[in-house]
Amino acid sequence: MSPSQTDNKATPGAGPIEVPQGLYRKHPSEPHITGISHYRSLYSESIQHPDFFWSRFARQLLDWDKEFRTARSGSLANGDTAWFLEGRLNASYNCVDRHAINTPSKPAIIYVEDADGQTRVITYSELLRSVCKLSYVLRDMGVAKGHTVSIYMPMVPEALIAMLACARIGAVHSVVFAGFSAEALQGRILDAGCKLIITSDEARRAGKPISMKTVVDQALKFCPGVTGCLVFKRTGLTPTSWISPRDRWWHEEVEKWPGYMPPEDLPAEHPLFLLYTSGSTGKPKGLVHTTAGYLLGAAASTKYVFDLHEQDVFFCAGDIGWITGHTYLCYGPLLLGSTTIVCEGTPTFPSPFRYWNIIEKHQVTHFYTAPTVLRLLKKAGSEPSPNQVSKLRVLGSIGEPIAPEVWLWYYESVGKKEAHIVDTYFQTETGCHALAPLAGVTSTKPGCASVPFFGVDPVIIDPISGTEIVSCNQEGYLAFRQPWPSMARSVWGDHTRFIKTYFNQYKGYYLTGDGAYRDSEGDYWICGRIDDVINVSGHRLSTAELEAALLEHPAVSEAAVVGVSDEMTGQALSCFVSIKDGHKDDSTLNKTAISYIRKAIGGFATPKYFIVVSDIPKTRSGKIMRRILRKIFEGEKENFGDVSTLINPASIQTVIEEVETFR
Ligand code: WT7
Repeated sequence: MSPSQTDNKATPGAGPIEVPQGLYRKHPSEPHITGISHYRSLYSESIQHPDFFWSRFARQLLDWDKEFRTARSGSLANGDTAWFLEGRLNASYNCVDRHAINTPSKPAIIYVEDADGQTRVITYSELLRSVCKLSYVLRDMGVAKGHTVSIYMPMVPEALIAMLACARIGAVHSVVFAGFSAEALQGRILDAGCKLIITSDEARRAGKPISMKTVVDQALKFCPGVTGCLVFKRTGLTPTSWISPRDRWWHEEVEKWPGYMPPEDLPAEHPLFLLYTSGSTGKPKGLVHTTAGYLLGAAASTKYVFDLHEQDVFFCAGDIGWITGHTYLCYGPLLLGSTTIVCEGTPTFPSPFRYWNIIEKHQVTHFYTAPTVLRLLKKAGSEPSPNQVSKLRVLGSIGEPIAPEVWLWYYESVGKKEAHIVDTYFQTETGCHALAPLAGVTSTKPGCASVPFFGVDPVIIDPISGTEIVSCNQEGYLAFRQPWPSMARSVWGDHTRFIKTYFNQYKGYYLTGDGAYRDSEGDYWICGRIDDVINVSGHRLSTAELEAALLEHPAVSEAAVVGVSDEMTGQALSCFVSIKDGHKDDSTLNKTAISYIRKAIGGFATPKYFIVVSDIPKTRSGKIMRRILRKIFEGEKENFGDVSTLINPASIQTVIEEVETFR
C-alpha cells in the first residue's frame, strides 16, 4: 500500500518546524530532555534495556511502599506482560499525599464552572482531606478492595476525588462518559459487576441543567448487584427521585468521617481502573489498567512529552470519561504535583473565547484538546490575544488526525508561534502516549505524530504477508514489538478477547488497529483505523454497535453504518438502511431509527446522514461491504475494486442512484 489520501498529509515541500524559541524564553528552567540526542539515547536504552530503563524511572517517578524485584515478566506473544512484581504502592498516595506533605497549599485542581460561573481552587491538602473522607464513605457503603465502582459524573473536581478515593482503598473505578445513555451505562455496570455507582443530581452544560440521576435510576432498574448510589449535589435545582437506603447524598456522608485515612498498599499489578471502549465487533470492552505500570506511563509521558514542570498549570479540555481525561487531566498532572484544570461545560459557551479567557486567568502553560474543538473555534473566528497566551509553552492535540491547516492555525493563531505543538497518538489500550513529539525537543511537521515514546517499539506491518515493512512512505498496519508498562493487561471478564483482538493476528506484536507509515526521516504518520471503528469528534464508535441499535427498529431490515469525512467532526456517521416488507419510508423513520442509536449509545453518536436503500452490498458470507458504501457516498461511480465476492453486485448501481436522490 502507498500512503492513502488522508487529510493529515503535510503540505508537499514543507519542512519540519523547529521548536519555537518562545518555549525556551517562557520556560521556568530548561526542558527535562535537553535535546534530540538526549531523547535518542534514552529511547534507545528504553528499547535495548527496557527492564533497566523502566526500573530506574519507576523509582524516580513513583513512591513505593515495598520495592519491586522483577521489572517485567511475560511477553506480547502470550499477551501476559506484568511489571514491577513484588512491588507495592498506592495511586492516591502518589497523586495526593506526597504533594500534600511537600506543597500542602499549592493548587492541585482549579475548577472552572460551566458558563464561567464560579472558580474553585482545591489545594493538595484539601484534596487529601476530600479523598480520605470519600474513601471512608465508600467503605461504609460496602466497597472493599477489588470491588468495581461505576463513576458517572459531570466534569467537576468530585469526579477526580471519586477516582482517587477508589484508588485509595483498592477499588477499581470504571468511569462512564456522562454522554452515554441509560442503556449504555447499564451495559457497562453489568459487565463490570459494579457494587456502587457515584453520580450527581444534574450536570450543567452551556447554561442548561442536564439530568444525571434519572439516567442512573433508569440504568439501575436491571442492575441488582448495585447496592449503593452516592449522589453529588451539583445543582440542587430539580427534586431528585430517591430510593432508600440505596441512595445517599455525597455532602451528608462525607460530613461523618475524619479527614485522613491511610492508603492501602496494593500490589503493582492490582487493577486501578476499567475503561470501556468500542472495538470492531461485539459489545464494548472494559480495558483493564493496573496500578504501577499505568501510573509510570502517565507520569513519564506527562513529564517528558509535555515537558511538564511542577509550577506548571495544565489545562486538558478532554472529558474524564475517556483515557485522555484519566491520564492527562487526573493522574499525570497530579502525579507530578502540578496543577490541573477541571473545566465544565462546552468550548463555546458563554463565548467561543472561553478557553482563551481561562488560559489567561489561570496562567495556563499547557493546553490539550482534540482537533474537533480546534476546527470549531477556528470556524468561529476565535483567537486569543498575545497577552492571553503569554505563559503558554505547549499545545497538545489528541484523538484524531489534525489537518495541516488546523495545525498551522493552532501554531500561529493560538500559540503565536511561541508554543510547541505536540500531536500525540495513543489509545485507551496504550494508557499513555505511544507516538508524539517531545515538547522543547522534537521538530514537528503539521499532521505528523512524530517519534515513539520511551519503550514503544513501532513497526509497520504488511497486512498481507504479515512481515515488517522496512521501506519508508509505505502504509501498513501500525503495531508495537515490545511491551511497555502502561499497556492494558486484559479485557475485563474476557481475556480471550483481549488476546484475540490485539496479539493473535500477528504473533509477537501488539496490533493498534490503525494504519500508518514512516517517512524518510523516521517520523510516523497515522492514516486512520483499519477496522470498523469510526472516529466522530474524537469519540470512538463501533459500526457493529451502531448497526445493532438500528436493527432493533421494527421497520429496519438491514443496516450499515460508515464513517464519511466531515469538515467539523473529522468523520460523520452515515447510515444506510433497508426496510422490511410491509413497512414504508415515511418522514418519521429517519428520526425514530436514529432515536434507537441515541437510546443505545447516547446523543454524541447521532448520525448525520440517514439513507434508505433497497439493498445493501454484501458478500456471499453476509459481510456488509462498508468500503463500497463509503466510496458511493464520496461520489465514486465506477472504481470499487474487487466486487467478485458480492452476492448482489447490482445493488451498487441502485445505491448510487438512491444516494443521488438523497442528495
Ligand atoms: C484511536 C484511539 C487517545 C485518546 C483519545 C482517543 C485515534 C488517537 C490520534 C492522533 C490520529 C489518533 C486512533 C486511535 N487517534 N490519537 N494523534 N492522530 N489519530 O482514545 O478512544 O482509545 O481512540 O484514536 O485511531 O486508535 P481512543
